[in-house]
Amino acid sequence: MFKTHRCGELRAEHAGQRVTLAGWVHRRRDHGGVIFIDLRDRWGIAQVVINPANVTPEQFRLGESLRSEFVVQIRGAVQLRPEGMRNPRMATGDIEVMADALEILNPAKTPPFLIDSDARDVDENLRLKYRYLDLRRERMQKNLTLRHRFCKFIRDYLDARGFLEIETPILFKTTPEGARDYLVPSRIYPGTFYALPQSPQQLKQLLQVAGVERYFQIARCFRDEDQRADRQPEFTQLDMEMSFVDRDDVLDLVEGLMTEFVEQHVGKKLLFKPFRRLSYAEVIAKYGNDKPDLRFGLELFDVTAPTRDSAFNVFAGAPMVKGLAAPGCGNYTRKQIDELTEFARKEGAKGLVTLVHDETGIRNQGAGAKLSDAEKSAILAAAGSQPGDLLMLVADTPKVVNEVMSALRLEMGRRLKLADPGVLAFAWIVDFPLFEWNEEEQRWDPSHHMFTAPKDEFIPLLETDPGKVLSKQYDLVCNGYEVGGGSIRIHRRDIQEIIMRLIGLEMEDARRKFGHLLEAFEYGAPPHGGIAPGIDRLTMLFCDEPNIREVIAFPKNQQAMDVMAGAPSPVYDKQLKELRIRIVE
Ligand code: AMO
Repeated sequence: MFKTHRCGELRAEHAGQRVTLAGWVHRRRDHGGVIFIDLRDRWGIAQVVINPANVTPEQFRLGESLRSEFVVQIRGAVQLRPEGMRNPRMATGDIEVMADALEILNPAKTPPFLIDSDARDVDENLRLKYRYLDLRRERMQKNLTLRHRFCKFIRDYLDARGFLEIETPILFKTTPEGARDYLVPSRIYPGTFYALPQSPQQLKQLLQVAGVERYFQIARCFRDEDQRADRQPEFTQLDMEMSFVDRDDVLDLVEGLMTEFVEQHVGKKLLFKPFRRLSYAEVIAKYGNDKPDLRFGLELFDVTAPTRDSAFNVFAGAPMVKGLAAPGCGNYTRKQIDELTEFARKEGAKGLVTLVHDETGIRNQGAGAKLSDAEKSAILAAAGSQPGDLLMLVADTPKVVNEVMSALRLEMGRRLKLADPGVLAFAWIVDFPLFEWNEEEQRWDPSHHMFTAPKDEFIPLLETDPGKVLSKQYDLVCNGYEVGGGSIRIHRRDIQEIIMRLIGLEMEDARRKFGHLLEAFEYGAPPHGGIAPGIDRLTMLFCDEPNIREVIAFPKNQQAMDVMAGAPSPVYDKQLKELRIRIVE
């Protein structure tokens, strides 16, 4: 071993001991002929003192040659720092190591950015190009560590409850999660392709038919979709599936896991214990989307009906009118209102109606002057606002209104600093519709995926009124992110076939894609269900990071590129020939 102790573990009680440390030079300072080194390893930083009185002149010159990020080994004695020199902000701040021997294990070029700073302002592509340096930083080491803790906790928690961790293939066949597949050409069967799994969905269901009963996997998933702060082309799920369970069995198990982990390892408060449970209809009505940030209220109100016949033409006959009341914002300036209007426009609204609630009610000015007294009092009743509030409303189709108002709600939450960063607001969203109408293709799409079961009492409606059918889907949301999704599955072939017909999947096509699963259902499939919490998104929230790239060791950038290795990259003609693939310009 190159070291007897970890830099970060030294404390006052080590005073008097001889130690050997090895790590990176974090900082070097020269003070009146004495050299101070902050020596860093994964566990922290220790101060090393190189005093000409304790080392040979040659060794002292070596000390003078040290630069940031040199890899060094140091021997010496731990001593208490002189009174007044102690640093209570440093875990090792009570001690220092008096070096008597020093060896440079490896010099280092000057890094392209400082390792000893938080570096949030360093260009992200530069950080990603030199990811191995970026990962040396304390914040990134903390993120890697918490991610490891989470995975270890998951394994122990599920093992104790009878789950088996089982790996499923990466070279597989198209999966039904609705994104574009990544394809891998087969050399042995030219013209055919494997698809990388968008999730292990079919395989985990087949494992239930196989009698596993309780399966999990920390599974890599691949989806070729547009990148966002919470999306990567490859990401990791805690993929789970259980037999002989109902919805609440799955929810309770996952809730227990999240609660225990957060309480034991994440320094954040759980806002809801137990997690809140809200129906899809309720969250769409109150928050305009199905992954609301529940750390603050600011609920939307709906005044479609009372403004239907308004003399104000923006509201009159609009398919939907919804708004929110921003507390204490009634004195917003023209400029602030213009900014919010621009924000609403960018989100897709034609405009933003603003009304001021003052002592007289809705102020008789702007749009307020065009509303009748009855309309004004209906709006105030729906808004539940106070004098001094600013009401913001959008009239449009339900899709546009909900999209704009949910974005505006988050924006006002940010401006008014309503969301406590130290809080995790977990909630379950349940009772999703089974289908969404696909206007373009004039057919029903599954809201989750085609294996999701309808709620039993809605089965008769499948053939007559599919839009009304609610499903056994559930999503786990936290602080405005969807952090997990799952469902109780269809385990009967007859119902699966009705669903496939409704979503326009021809039996021929279905058999070609999912024949193995349909066939398996004829050999005694147990009732089953599962879920897949997203490990990246959860870790991002636990670590207080703004995007999932910060909690993935080697992520792709926002253009889906690995800028460190340079992937994707062209391949040799020979490889293409073997695969019988020609590039068409
Ligand atoms: P779903 O598609 O809802 O369900 O995905 C489950 C969870 O995976 C995470 N996630 C992502 N994370 C990062 N980047 C992405 N591109 C990305 N896409 C999804 C989210 C999401 O909630 N097989 C089903 C699960 C099931 O039914 O059991 C599935 O994959 O946190």
